[in-house]
Amino acid sequence: MPIELPALPYAHATLEPHIPAATLELHHGSHHRAYVEETNRLLEGSGLEELALEQVVRQARGRLAEQAAQAWNHGFYWTCLSPRGGGEPGGRLAELLARQYGDFTRFREEFTRMALALPGSGWVWLVQHPDGNPGIVATRGAATPLTGADVPLLACDVWEHAYYLDRRDARAEYLEAFWKVVDWEAAGKRLV
Ligand SMILES: [Fe+2]
Repeated sequence: MPIELPALPYAHATLEPHIPAATLELHHGSHHRAYVEETNRLLEGSGLEELALEQVVRQARGRLAEQAAQAWNHGFYWTCLSPRGGGEPGGRLAELLARQYGDFTRFREEFTRMALALPGSGWVWLVQHPDGNPGIVATRGAATPLTGADVPLLACDVWEHAYYLDRRDARAEYLEAFWKVVDWEAAGKRLV
């Protein structure tokens, strides 16, 4: 079965003014679609055609691994954003972040600092380590926590294509917008 481009879980304009519809249309409809299509092209004859995308990411090597990881990373990223997002997490995630970072503001500052410090293209993740504690992980290029032991809770795409259309090279502005639409409820539900 070919990998499918998942539909955005909200209408394009519903993350405005923080993330413009045009940016979402390009990011989802062009960039994400291209990763899915290239994954399917490379899957042909690979022996991995029958696997789910998550398993392709874990088992493939080389360019197929990269394209599949980007296909999965983007599908995950869309579910980290919501028109009803922003603010702060509640419940157990709030408690874990407070215990690890002192308070939510310090967590957000550290996550933002790592996103701004990441050279070139990549992702920044809030993960849950196998010991149960939360952590912030930056990955270069197409790399993904899916290939390791951490459970991804939240992803921020810091490839320039996530923001260059409306914010040119201003990654810091994009991070400010990102925090306004983060779906903390979804992140909390991913805790093990
Ligand atoms: Fe992206």
